[in-house]
Amino acid sequence: MIKVTASPNIAFIKYWGKKDSTSDEDRNIGVNPSLSMTLDVAKTTVVIEKSPRHSIYIDQKEASKEDHDKIVQHITRIEKMFQKTHPQGAGYLNINSENNFPPSAGIASSASAFAALTVGIVAAIIGKPETKKLLKTNPDTLSSLARRGSGSAARSLMGGFVKWETLTAESLNVQWPLLDTIVILSSKAKDVSSSEGHKRALTSPYFAERQSKLPERIRNLENALQTKDFERFGQIIEEEALEMHHVAETSNPPIHYLSEDSKRLISTIQGLKNRSFYFTIDAGPNLHLISTKPIKEEIKSILNNLKLDAVIWEDHLGTGPTLE
Ligand code: PMV
Repeated sequence: MIKVTASPNIAFIKYWGKKDSTSDEDRNIGVNPSLSMTLDVAKTTVVIEKSPRHSIYIDQKEASKEDHDKIVQHITRIEKMFQKTHPQGAGYLNINSENNFPPSAGIASSASAFAALTVGIVAAIIGKPETKKLLKTNPDTLSSLARRGSGSAARSLMGGFVKWETLTAESLNVQWPLLDTIVILSSKAKDVSSSEGHKRALTSPYFAERQSKLPERIRNLENALQTKDFERFGQIIEEEALEMHHVAETSNPPIHYLSEDSKRLISTIQGLKNRSFYFTIDAGPNLHLISTKPIKEEIKSILNNLKLDAVIWEDHLGTGPTLE
């Protein structure tokens, strides 16, 4: 039996828009580099066993045909990768993938799922000891494979702060135990998937402008992380999140991920005098609040004042996948 855990990540510089690909090897590469923090408490656990046929379960339910096909395609691409040294492949697998966090909560399950699946399938092909070695000494191969399943999964293959520029992601040498308090305002599945969002991003008249600003923004963010300049860090991640949403909202056709509730919460947070946390938001209405100390009580009272109902998920910087 193979058991793998991997956590989702929250992007501070967003992957929003893909490069054209010419083959499966260069699938899902962002137009711009992205930078994220891998979480810890939220996890996908994947358990893999040999089986007479492929059977795949997600959160204890048989996977939809679409998910089943995507995962079988992932098994095939990984088998191909190791064909020379391990021609026997993975064989048929029974795969159980479970998330410990609520679905559609603004916590990207495809990143943690494909990171965990990749490690598990590789272990089914080359064995656990070799895969553990790869995870420790050369996670690039695994990150690059995970990316082909889902772009942002490349970053969940590593712990800490992670930058993803080309085929594979890399971990940054920054030790800063930041917290991510996720305010789940709505658990409704999003109307427009991020795959569709990546395509539409290129139609926004602001897309080119955003791209021109990103190299400097990433440099500044890396600098703020290195020097632990929390205020500077916060200004950058908020500017970036709002810009990604501006690109989405000006795409053709437009995508409105932010709800009225998200907008009210954002403007209240922006009006706070002493900022002990800063927000970022992925493709959905829920806010990730990044801080250096716990902020749950403060957030609860802000939500109370606004008469907003929300579930709060407390998370923090994590260390990357585990394999047993
Ligand atoms: O990996 P995808 O295709 O689900 O895209 C992720 C897109 C964002 O979460 C909005 C940004 C990011 O960099 O994670």
